[in-house]
Amino acid sequence: MTVRPEILPPSSAAIARAAELLRAGELVAFPTETVYGLGADAGNEDAVEALFAAKGRPSFNPLIVHVADLEAAERIAVFDDRARTLGSCLWAGPFTVVLPRRDDAPVSPMVSAGLDTVAVRVPASQVARALLRAVGRPIAAPSANRSGGLSPTTPMHVANDLGERVAMILAGGRCQIGLESTILDLSAGPPRLLRPGRVSRREIEGLIGPIVGSGEDDEPADALAPFAPKAPGQLASHYAPSLPVRLNAVTLGPAEALLAFGPDAFIRGGVTRLNLSPQGDLHEAAANLYAMLHSLDKPAHAAIAVMPIPDVGIGIAINDRLRRAAAPRGLSQP
Ligand code: TXA
Ligand code: MG
Repeated sequence: MTVRPEILPPSSAAIARAAELLRAGELVAFPTETVYGLGADAGNEDAVEALFAAKGRPSFNPLIVHVADLEAAERIAVFDDRARTLGSCLWAGPFTVVLPRRDDAPVSPMVSAGLDTVAVRVPASQVARALLRAVGRPIAAPSANRSGGLSPTTPMHVANDLGERVAMILAGGRCQIGLESTILDLSAGPPRLLRPGRVSRREIEGLIGPIVGSGEDDEPADALAPFAPKAPGQLASHYAPSLPVRLNAVTLGPAEALLAFGPDAFIRGGVTRLNLSPQGDLHEAAANLYAMLHSLDKPAHAAIAVMPIPDVGIGIAINDRLRRAAAPRGLSQP
């Protein structure tokens, strides 16, 4: 009997095996440059249903479809000139676009949670690209974690969180970026940023002109609220560890663990602490964020106190995820 999950380094044999499992309707976790994805054949209704069940994800929360290139993306969604410009300039990369679904899209309606739109992305990671080429089909892939929890950036995170629910984990090491892709909605009305990420609002505006939306300098986070039903991953509580998270900490409470940032961490001595980036490098901090939250998320602590993170560049995406990690759990999705 095969032990579940098979955890294999991404050799060409392992990638071929992963592709075979996906084509047979199994779930395979694989690395992308952002976070690990939990892949299923997007055209296979049973596989997609198993994916929702494995994550404990509500069926109203749609999935991102991953493909090998722009051409494959155009077989799924209706691209206009703006979408094509973004696709050719930002792909392969940490960018997702929401567009109208094509009537003949080879993708189960469940992937879109019944909406007439679909989210598509061409990941940059070599392993992800090799896998997508080997499968030759669109792959639905949410982050490979239980719904609402912390995203995985290492194979062990996936194994600990999903275990036997996945057939195989392609163990490609740590994810380079460490935060999920930027999501832009181009399906109706003005372009809207649904989730900030490594590709910045400014970069997108440089290509297609002004966009509206979340989490960046000119709008408060709660401006998102009216759009929450459209992207349920954007609900207040998400990306959350088990412990409470306290933001902008400048002192440390009893039994709190410290997630520090920058050279002048204010507490010295015996407390449990990890530093996102002692040099104050926001890219390093993004890459470390989920792994450090995972390791501080232990019952020995009462809470995780996080020092202030500058709200510039990828710091905007870090603060977006931290706000959701700290949000009251009552606001969590079911
Ligand atoms: O970096 C990433 O995007 C990772 C890796 C694995 O590619 N994937 C990821 O997927 O973060 P997930 O499922 O954890 O987050 C997808 C987000 C959710 O907030 C979902 O609501 C939103 O995308 N989404 C998907 N399809 C949508 C649609 N048609 N309209 C609006 N939002 C959509
Ligand atoms: Mg997720």
